[in-house]
Amino acid sequence: MGNIEDYRQFMKSMFGKVGISDQSRGVSPPPIEAPYDHEAEVVLLPEVSRDVIVRPDLFDCISRRRSRRDWTADPLTIDLVSFLLWATQGVSEVLAGGRATLRTVPSGGARHPFETYVVANSVAGLDPRVYRYLPLTHRLLPLFEMNDQRREDLTLALLGQRFAAHAPVLFVWSCIPYRGEWRYTLAAHKTMLQDAGHMCQNLYLACEAIGAGMCAIGAYDQESLDAFLNLDGNDEFAVYGAPVGHPKER
Ligand SMILES: Cc1cc2nc3c(=O)[nH]c(=O)nc-3n(C[C@H](O)[C@H](O)[C@H](O)COP(=O)(O)O)c2cc1C
Repeated sequence: MGNIEDYRQFMKSMFGKVGISDQSRGVSPPPIEAPYDHEAEVVLLPEVSRDVIVRPDLFDCISRRRSRRDWTADPLTIDLVSFLLWATQGVSEVLAGGRATLRTVPSGGARHPFETYVVANSVAGLDPRVYRYLPLTHRLLPLFEMNDQRREDLTLALLGQRFAAHAPVLFVWSCIPYRGEWRYTLAAHKTMLQDAGHMCQNLYLACEAIGAGMCAIGAYDQESLDAFLNLDGNDEFAVYGAPVGHPKER
């Protein structure tokens, strides 16, 4: 685990200690989207549209932003989920012949190290499943079914935070650390967490804009959440979560 000094060191800039990266050695970059079976059935997401916006004033969205944890029984719609995925990881430009992307959120060196897992408990138009977002084509890759037992496993992985595991939708963001390390070696790790903050703040503001609500989730059991998502815990692991629903308090 290291000691507290190691952790303080981690918070400081490592850009003076990048050394020789795989990029500077001429190694090809890792894929910008985690590989998947291209024969697999995927779900096309509705085209992103500003029609879902109910609060168009940015001032209102910023001033109302709160963490919300209490949901009505109303499902989210697939149009809202589509908008939120675009707002957090949507690709706006593919660069360098497919070697990098620009998205709706910034990322140090445009490394975009995250994958998004969508736990759909109650979304009109989506089977209750866990999906992976495919940002290059704005589609969902179905992974496995959600059921009561899996929701209980997820609640435990989130340290008893039932409101998160049972939310209409829970986003879990994983990190593929090599995407950042390939360019920045040691300096990548702080940068990737800074990236996570930008992404999550976009989700907070996007939720306010569509009349939904969310809560950032940083408290979870690493091994259990990785096991839940079938992540190996080393080359890919969970870093952050966010349940979304229609909030009871407005
Ligand atoms: C990095 C981070 C991790 C958080 N983790 C949790 C969490 O696991 N559970 C929770 O209920 N709230 C969590 N929160 C929400 C904070 O408790 C909340 O932002 C704080 O109390 C301030 O309230 P506000 O967001 O409504 O302004 C987290 C927030 C951040 C930014």
